[in-house]
Amino acid sequence: MLRGRRQQVEALDELLADVRAGHSRALVVRGEPGIGKTALLNHAAGAAADFQVAQGDGVESEMELPYSTLQQLCARMLHRLDRLPPPQRDALSVALGLQSGNAPDRLLVGLAVLGLLSEVAAEQPLLCLIDDAQWLDQTSAQALGFVARRLDTESVAVIFGTRDRAGGDLAGVPELTVRGLAAADARVLLAAVIPGRLDESVRDRIIAESSGNPLALLELPHGVTVAELAGGFGVAGALALGGCGTSDAKPAAPARPAGATGAAAARTIFCSTTTSVGPPMMRRCSTLSRRIRTRRRRPSTVAWSITASRG
Ligand SMILES: Nc1ncnc2c1ncn2[C@@H]1O[C@H](COP(=O)(O)OP(=O)(O)OP(=O)(O)O)[C@@H](O)[C@H]1O
Ligand SMILES: [Mg+2]
Repeated sequence: MLRGRRQQVEALDELLADVRAGHSRALVVRGEPGIGKTALLNHAAGAAADFQVAQGDGVESEMELPYSTLQQLCARMLHRLDRLPPPQRDALSVALGLQSGNAPDRLLVGLAVLGLLSEVAAEQPLLCLIDDAQWLDQTSAQALGFVARRLDTESVAVIFGTRDRAGGDLAGVPELTVRGLAAADARVLLAAVIPGRLDESVRDRIIAESSGNPLALLELPHGVTVAELAGGFGVAGALALGGCGTSDAKPAAPARPAGATGAAAARTIFCSTTTSVGPPMMRRCSTLSRRIRTRRRRPSTVAWSITASRG
């Protein structure tokens, strides 16, 4: 269940309502790793039971493969290709490897995708979810940014999730920036995953240092004992430390990165606590730090709701 995020959920619900009413909308959900972008996209998918849903995610290992995400997004729509003007149909067919030819004109590919989404949405509103857009291959990013900027009244919603800063291929697309949970919501989330008493000052410190990053709040307690959580963080001065070492040696100088927030700050607290709680927490800290920093996506598991039989 999503804690907090009322505003963001309302924005997504409004977007879907607009699309139901015959408009089209695009939105970039932006924020740091673990902040809850995918959770919000999942909310949109859940709230769009009356939509067809298509998904195409950025995949880090496919970033060099032209049109790889576009292929994923459009795979179940290709039976409608023949409804497109021939130059657009040919361009998209070549882009997706259905036809041989020279590298297609990217304008034609963009227009073809716009046309294809419109064709599909003519029957029933269409929701396109494009998560991990920071890992889109460039040609897909260009085409999808092009489409998102040109949507009009096709009953198409396109929602991106990305860690990237504003700009790039999605420049000009409306944005929803996701920040850390408010302290009250972070407290509830933490309480749900802490298996026992948590020292109040420890709790407040975790919340402050994590900047309400849900992933940091959820992951911290795994593998940590009740005793560690009840008292392990309370050692004065421990939080002024930085860096994830692998020994028990206390780092020499206060080194919390200036201005560190969210996942970065969360790493700091996890690393900082290592000197006061010993090897088990040390291992936990360094693992968590690595995982937040290098978080990878599994291939998408969101089910397609566009059936090939629609024609
Ligand atoms: N508002 C929330 N309430 C409860 N849990 C949340 C909330 N937001 C996110 N979570 C949980 O936090 C974890 C991280 O969220 P999510 O995967 O959505 O982050 P993300 O921004 O997509 O990260 P990444 O950039 O790595 O993909 C998930 O387990 C998710 O279910
Ligand atoms: Mg995500």
